[in-house]
Amino acid sequence: MSDETLSNLLTENRTFAPPADLAADANVKADAYAAAAADHEGFWAEQAGRLDWAEPFTQVLDDTAAPFYKWFVGGKLNVAHNCVDRHVAAGRGDQVAIHFVGEPGDTRSITYSDLKDEVSRAANAIEELGIVAGDRVAIYMPMIPEAVVAMLACARVGATHTVVFGGFSADALASRIEDCNAKLVITADGGYRRGAPSALKPAVDAALEKIDNATTAIVENVLVVRRTGQDVAWNTDVDVWWHEVVDESSTDHRAQAFDAEHPLFVMYSSGTTGKPKGILHTTAGYLVGTAYTHHAVFDLKPETDVYWCTADVGWITGHSYIVYGPLANGVTQVLYEGTPDTPHKGRWWEIIQDYKVTLFYTAPTAIRTFMKWGRSIPDEYDLSSLRLLGSVGEPINPEAYMWYREVIGGDRCPIVDTWWQTETGMMMISPLPGVTAGKPGSAMTALPGVGADVVSEDGVPVPNGSGGYLVLTKPWPSMLRTLLGDDERFVDTYWSKYKEQGWYFAGDGAKKDDDGAIWLLGRVDDVMNVSGHRLSTTEIESALVSHPRVAEAAVVGAADETTGQAVVAYVILREGASAGATGEELVQELRNHVAKEIGAIAKPRSIMLVPELPKTRSGKIMRRLLKDVAENRTVGDTTTLADAGVMALIAEGQKTSTED
Ligand code: WTA
Repeated sequence: MSDETLSNLLTENRTFAPPADLAADANVKADAYAAAAADHEGFWAEQAGRLDWAEPFTQVLDDTAAPFYKWFVGGKLNVAHNCVDRHVAAGRGDQVAIHFVGEPGDTRSITYSDLKDEVSRAANAIEELGIVAGDRVAIYMPMIPEAVVAMLACARVGATHTVVFGGFSADALASRIEDCNAKLVITADGGYRRGAPSALKPAVDAALEKIDNATTAIVENVLVVRRTGQDVAWNTDVDVWWHEVVDESSTDHRAQAFDAEHPLFVMYSSGTTGKPKGILHTTAGYLVGTAYTHHAVFDLKPETDVYWCTADVGWITGHSYIVYGPLANGVTQVLYEGTPDTPHKGRWWEIIQDYKVTLFYTAPTAIRTFMKWGRSIPDEYDLSSLRLLGSVGEPINPEAYMWYREVIGGDRCPIVDTWWQTETGMMMISPLPGVTAGKPGSAMTALPGVGADVVSEDGVPVPNGSGGYLVLTKPWPSMLRTLLGDDERFVDTYWSKYKEQGWYFAGDGAKKDDDGAIWLLGRVDDVMNVSGHRLSTTEIESALVSHPRVAEAAVVGAADETTGQAVVAYVILREGASAGATGEELVQELRNHVAKEIGAIAKPRSIMLVPELPKTRSGKIMRRLLKDVAENRTVGDTTTLADAGVMALIAEGQKTSTED
């Protein structure tokens, strides 16, 4: 390969045009692309009109200190007012904002009026605890409405929140509390997961011990929601019950307007080094970007749609597409506390049936899990209310896309495969459901108002039919503003590779097909080099998953004396898939299948059949660990794995299979 580009091997020819009725009535039509291209700032200024401003902005974009961009300069608004109060003021107070479904089966429907009261009470309560604008608040909670209320209460008083996913350990929580200097922690006794109460408060206690809070006194209070009724250790110096202070507070709270660039939240994300990056998002641009994209990509009709995003509020998807974007748009949505298989494997489909969900947003890893369980489970439920499906978090393999489309979407619903990052805050590359003829496995094109391209190592856009690095070519309102306390790392990580061009380096490999549609090929560090061919893990995984017996696959490049790297695959078989070859015979069949789908160059050197894959709690496969196994190294840090036992199983299996 002359150039550091990715080989473009896998081909896909199916396309699905938008349903005619959706296209006719779509929120955003084809003309939006041209309008945005003709006047980038004008386009975003128009989208800013979706919000209530206490003071209008005087400048759309200030790029004088790029890449430290500022959006909507001089404007002022309150995020909680925009997400809650203004819907009540517009006479929509009786509309349900959140249909909460607890894992044990308890439910609550919270209207916008209820939400306004609850957020106001919580805002009064945290102010009473001494929180003022600019303070940091850590939120460590299960998926219950109070998590949303806590975030909005912080936004309302101008405190910056950092939500730490409830599955993270006390250590992870401690380092985040310390890094952002959180004055208050909002938590719960626990939440329900997999049919049982799962404690949270003890991890907060351990985190405070770890940072020696008794001496350092960083955290002044811990506000605790009672969810499970478990016994909790109580430190009277800092601990306060939510029901004692929030429920007792007044529902009157005047929301003060904050500057457009006032910090809204910090979201920690793992980087290439051990130290997590504190990704900072600010007020107005973030809300404009998430509200617009939620309106455009989900074609949200707030009066009639019922929306459900299955992410956890602890991830960026939960921030942008459960809390801020949807609520700014006055959505009615479902919030589910638990796991998809509790108390039975049809739980999600039952919720869709019960609440007549119309718009559904989930991750490929979940879809592949359901594929593994078999279609007979969703087939038992009435999913006819659905009109649109979304995917996020990873490339969706064509096979998983087709299953999602046919089994869940009844071959009727368009799929929006949305590419974005914690850093981008909002969706960047995605079909528009009323405009784009989608292709299974492609995120298609940049949204209106977004600039994206695929370029070579030295910054030349690749021609259609080739691959390279994904870059974002224009600033966008919800872009990260910096990494908390580390401007230098911010510039180095995202803005130095294509400094001359002023492009944002996303760290993802991608290709443009013959029509210019964009296909994401995984993180750049997941790219393999086999005999000088740059192969993407995603493409080979997709080829494996297209075999009828395969539910999930993870591919890594392992050092190889002759070819530089060799393709090593780990495969989970579908449950109840029709009988056929087993063991070594099946492995051969799968190797040949990849050769047929992609080419002999991509044929895995070895394939191991495994019961599980190592994944982070947000569902991303940790290929780094599989690479350790494939290269016979001691397996590295597994602390962010959802299930730490998985690696031991795989390493053991690998040992026996090589010994055989
Ligand atoms: C990957 C999640 C392909 C990508 C919102 C990106 C995707 C990283 C897609 C960000 C998609 C996310 N197709 N890849 N539709 N969506 N990714 O920060 O590698 O958790 O860089 O944000 O996920 O992950 P993050």
